[in-house]
Amino acid sequence: MKNILITGGAGFIGSHVIRLFVIKYPNDQIFNLDTLTYAGNLENLKDVENANNHTFLKADINNAEEINKLFAKYKFDKVIHLAAESHVDRSIIDPLAFVRTNVIGTVNLLNAAKECWKDDFTDKLFYHVSTDEVYGTLGETGLFTETTSYDPNSPYSASKASSDHFVRAYGETYKLPYMISNCSNNYGPNQFPEKLIPLFIHNIVKEKSLPVYGDGKYTRDWLYVVDHTVAIDLAFHEGKIGETYNIGGFNEWQNIDLIKLLCELMDKKLGRETGSSAKLITYIKDRPGHDKRYAIDATKINKELGWKPSVTFEEGLSKTVDWYLENETWLNNVTSGAYQKYYDKQYL
Ligand code: NAD
Ligand code: TYD
Repeated sequence: MKNILITGGAGFIGSHVIRLFVIKYPNDQIFNLDTLTYAGNLENLKDVENANNHTFLKADINNAEEINKLFAKYKFDKVIHLAAESHVDRSIIDPLAFVRTNVIGTVNLLNAAKECWKDDFTDKLFYHVSTDEVYGTLGETGLFTETTSYDPNSPYSASKASSDHFVRAYGETYKLPYMISNCSNNYGPNQFPEKLIPLFIHNIVKEKSLPVYGDGKYTRDWLYVVDHTVAIDLAFHEGKIGETYNIGGFNEWQNIDLIKLLCELMDKKLGRETGSSAKLITYIKDRPGHDKRYAIDATKINKELGWKPSVTFEEGLSKTVDWYLENETWLNNVTSGAYQKYYDKQYL
């Protein structure tokens, strides 16, 4: 039996990781540490929140003292670190918030783990969840591999790159056992409607305009969130200490093609006339420093651990749209209040 600390477990990817671990590992105690920012929502965990092996800890990773106390109290054996500020557009508005949580918050956790484990690192692990955005941008061809140089362009990706470097540095300097995975764009149920897919689903439902940045010819590699959690589980349990694993969907889409596909799908699901959602597409001013293309080479995790995505994009997108249509209350709750302020500032 292990005490596993998962940070950011009330967020989008974190809630799917919590669900998988709580159900799959009933003999492990899963501690879900989250400060519940605008992106954290315990509604995401309704089905597992009362499980015997799940404990929610409301705490802020920016508060070193609080984090140290929790490590001393619960003696976590392993950590999966997902808590972060995660949206590029918000990082352009307020970079320091990203430095605080993504950089300093990560170092606070590393220090707490190192202190708690007292340099006896037998069976200990700090698993850091990161992004492909640390590699910067690709041209028309090529893929990011684990040895691609870091070249972040947004305050968000710079803060994640910095956190990756700190994790690696603790591995080199103090021999803290770590793993890092860098994943491409996730989509699926419970994603906060500031990211492209849930934002556009929400706007289509409300018949609001669909704000496409620049010419819409930016490319992302999309992965269904549950496939990401399966990869994390596999690397966490079977990966090699000190390694990095790239995780991706082998699924590149130019934004505008994805948006048109989503519009067609939603016309069908909502019983609207074909072409009605596409009429909402509106090209707006580009995002500053907008990375042209991301695409992951996930050969290493495939060859070494046998992982590959299991959900096709058509299937995943259809499931995702169904989830948002069936969870209107969730969507209405998260888009009231502060969300509207952010939306107006960003888009109006
Ligand atoms: P999210 O924004 O949906 O959730 C982040 C969670 O972290 C929220 O529950 C929030 O309350 C919590 N949090 C934020 N600041 C905190 C703090 N100071 N202390 C404690 N908790 C705090 O993010 P997500 O999309 O689920 O991403 C999770 C992780 O995966 C992040 O580290 C992100 O960089 C990484 N990632 C995301 C994607 C993606 O496509 N979403 C892709 C690759 C990697
Ligand atoms: P996003 O979901 O913010 O993820 P990331 O920037 O981390 O890849 O955006 C995905 C793509 O969609 C990106 O190229 C920016 C674009 N985009 C828009 O065109 N309009 C929008 O309103 C948003 C949020 C994103």
